[in-house]
Amino acid sequence: MPNFIYLETVDSTNNYAVNLLKTSDVENGTTIITKKQSSGKGQRGNLWESEDDRNLILSLILFPQLKIKDAFYLTIASSLAVHKTLSHHLNSVKIKWPNDVLVGTKKIAGILIENQIKRELISSSVIGIGLNVNQDYFNPELNATSMKAELHQDFNLEELLNELYTNLDFYFNLLMENNFKTLLSRYYENLFQFKTLAKFEDDSGEFTGIIQGIDETGKLIVLRNQIPTSYDLKEIKQLR
Ligand code: BTN
Repeated sequence: MPNFIYLETVDSTNNYAVNLLKTSDVENGTTIITKKQSSGKGQRGNLWESEDDRNLILSLILFPQLKIKDAFYLTIASSLAVHKTLSHHLNSVKIKWPNDVLVGTKKIAGILIENQIKRELISSSVIGIGLNVNQDYFNPELNATSMKAELHQDFNLEELLNELYTNLDFYFNLLMENNFKTLLSRYYENLFQFKTLAKFEDDSGEFTGIIQGIDETGKLIVLRNQIPTSYDLKEIKQLR
């Protein structure tokens, strides 16, 4: 089992993990976990809000030694692990590109990965995971949910954490074996609106298109007006 560092409260487990990497020798798999995050970070500069002591809030430190071009496989492996953990309890769990996890169209988990680069390699990676477990109420604007909101029962956070780590272990082992093909096909199997008509938004407004897949750098390829077009996270938002 990895080395867990439990904190009562912290600004962001990702920040704490990044600082730890700068200031001390850290073991592969070291995990920062907290009950309360005062300024949890989300994708696109958003805040990640989570009620105290109700959800899983953690950051896993890995030393993947991956080539920079393969960085997106960290996203794939971690989102598959979260997806598998949730699918054990819930139906209709999907991964929304790049790494949101949804139940139906509601978001139940988010992942924020921060990589450190040395000599063309990802020397270390901080994988921040926020998974909504026992929180009952969410601001309707967020279109979010939790395991409890879906199933009307409380879940034991520690048991869930164990399940998550079994799955993280499984998918990161596939990655360490360079089994990119299996990872990509499982990602597509579980991708929200893969190969179906979907709604998007970019600088020019809303449009519809069909997700064809991702390119070798993890950009989303959307068939838009019959033309396959690649987008990175800053350029497009998939609506749900
Ligand atoms: C998203 O916007 O979907 C990503 C959310 C990631 C939240 C997690 S909670 C644990 C870790 N620490 C942070 O500050 N963010 C991530």
